[in-house]
Amino acid sequence: MKDTNISRRSVLCGVAVLSLGLGADFLPEAAQAAAGITQLKNGKIQVTLAANKVLAKVGGAVILNLNDGSQLGIVRTAAGVKGFSALSLVCPHNGAGVMEDGNKWVCPAHGSVFALNGKLIQGPARQGLSSIPVAATATTLTIG
Ligand code: FES
Repeated sequence: MKDTNISRRSVLCGVAVLSLGLGADFLPEAAQAAAGITQLKNGKIQVTLAANKVLAKVGGAVILNLNDGSQLGIVRTAAGVKGFSALSLVCPHNGAGVMEDGNKWVCPAHGSVFALNGKLIQGPARQGLSSIPVAATATTLTIG
């Protein structure tokens, strides 16, 4: 079984490539991509919210492709500066990449389903998606 715990190192190697909307209205706010996403000297990832407007709305998400081939999802899960989650998009069941499906994440391998905030909704996975610390201000997120 593949280790599904996202390591600090893999987050630190992250490169942003794509964003998409996951809101209830499924607006295709995609392709605002890597703008406003930088890797800091300490290796953390900084996201400028003004350049990633998809995160202004609950349900919005930005997906980063990491150098290890996995993906990191940054999700607006609630209003306010505490309403952001950063999640490994590696399924904790057996390591497949989960995919956005409306307002949830679904694993195409065996059908596990996770809420936007990574909580397990349906197995066979036995736990939710791994989360990465997010420090948020009104203008930026710092992840890692
Ligand atoms: S790898 Fe995701 S449900 Fe099995």
